[in-house]
Amino acid sequence: MKGILLAGGHGTRLHPLTIGISKQLLPVYNKPMIYYPLSILMLAGIREILVITAPDALPIFQRFLGDGSQWGLRFTYLTQERPRGTVEALLIGRDFIGNEPVCLIFGDNILYGHGLSGKLQEAARLTHGALIFAYYVGDPHRFGIVEFDATGRAISLEEKPAHPRSHYAVPGLYFYDCHVADYAAQVRPSLNDELVITDLNRIYLERGELRVEVLGRGVAWLDAGTHSSLLEAANFVQAVEHRQGLMIACPEEIAYQRGYIDAEQVRRIARAMGNNEYSAYLLRLAEEPPAGA
Ligand code: TTP
Repeated sequence: MKGILLAGGHGTRLHPLTIGISKQLLPVYNKPMIYYPLSILMLAGIREILVITAPDALPIFQRFLGDGSQWGLRFTYLTQERPRGTVEALLIGRDFIGNEPVCLIFGDNILYGHGLSGKLQEAARLTHGALIFAYYVGDPHRFGIVEFDATGRAISLEEKPAHPRSHYAVPGLYFYDCHVADYAAQVRPSLNDELVITDLNRIYLERGELRVEVLGRGVAWLDAGTHSSLLEAANFVQAVEHRQGLMIACPEEIAYQRGYIDAEQVRRIARAMGNNEYSAYLLRLAEEPPAGA
């Protein structure tokens, strides 16, 4: 399975922070925001990743992420000329996707919690249809919402409904089969002229090919798209990391645990970073055998 990290967009809800820098490069405590969705792709076992950015942000993303080889990954970069909607990621990525299934994640989604790695690895085995997730939220009118029948089957999908039919929001993490670019081409622009991902997912729903998996309360889903939620996300990461002494979304750690890179490479990255808490963490990590070993 391949991965697409979507990191364009308007970021208007974060103005003036995002006037001169992409939202997905803003700090969430001790790392750029994009490390969090990147680590989700890595936990799913995905190593070939297309990063989509706004044109002027491309060189900055390349400086942050490189070609991926430092983490045992392979990055390809493409740009989205204008934020015409999230579905466009799959049109821009059509050649990259080729005949393979693909996982699309939005560059501002932070997911963390118990059992998530297993769920992601299972999801990455998808070969047919689509798999999305559902997460109970208090303010459903802000999200794409999925409604279930009494047997737990998904029966409707609505984008930011004024009168939500359920409290189950759909996080920005989607697994699709190799036909997704064809379906994406069928999506028509919404009222505000954007290609909306809920309309793409509805195509799979109407074909009877959509699986929706509920993420329980053991998982935290944070979107860092507003001033408050950005601060909340940073506070969450800091609280968990300080309590446990383990990092959330450290690409070097995941790459090392998965055997993509060895201890010497972890040390090399740490040394290049100079003296700080992040590099100290990496140096400690390199002293322990990888968990997968
Ligand atoms: P949104 O949060 O829906 O929108 P946004 O990031 O543009 O922000 P705002 O509402 O504050 O103006 O986008 C979800 C993710 O998808 C986010 O990471 C940005 C990205 N995105 C694109 O890359 N291209 C697009 O055309 C759109 C609409 C979003």
